[in-house]
Amino acid sequence: MSNASMIVKVLCGLIAQCIASLLKGSSGFFAGAFFIMAFSSCQSTDELKKEQYYSEGYQLYTANCANCHQADGTGLANLYPPIKGSSYLDRNADLICIIKNGLAGEIQVAGKTYNRPMPANPKLADIEIAEIVTYVNITWGGDSTYTPTDSVTAILSRCEINQE
Ligand code: HEC
Repeated sequence: MSNASMIVKVLCGLIAQCIASLLKGSSGFFAGAFFIMAFSSCQSTDELKKEQYYSEGYQLYTANCANCHQADGTGLANLYPPIKGSSYLDRNADLICIIKNGLAGEIQVAGKTYNRPMPANPKLADIEIAEIVTYVNITWGGDSTYTPTDSVTAILSRCEINQE
């Protein structure tokens, strides 16, 4: 377990304790103040994680995706579809599965037809996929949160096989 998720776990445990003591009605003021403190540190840990995933995701996108989809996400002529404006940004599960397993067959993106295989990325770890998805979704999908690694792991276990 990483340090960051350890901290989140501890803080969230504290919050749970605070809520419990508030419910019991004991030492209301201190419990309330503590609750607010613990809650705000929980939020800033999330913010930190989002920044980490985003900057790692930027590096990984540059190394693994930008060759084809270009640094600005607009794709390349009729060969590689744009990610910017793609409906995959609203379908996290599909996005995660094609990053890992690749994609083949005719697809339509922003009114244009593409039909060329996208290679699989069997070597990317779940956390790296989470970072790429975070980068792509924040940059071109208007998202404001990160994609947690455990949700990537869960989605990957349900991908349809033979996607490539
Ligand atoms: C070798 C070139 C290549 C690389 C590298 C590549 N792709 Fe693709 N990608 C394609 C092609 C070609 C398609 C269209 C596949 C088809 O026609 O079925 C595609 C389709 C997609 C789509 C669905 C259509 C769209 O544009 O929204 C997404 C999303 C996508 N790629 C994301 C990525 C991400 C993220 C990476 C990096 C992990 C990546 N691709 C790496 C070539 C590539």
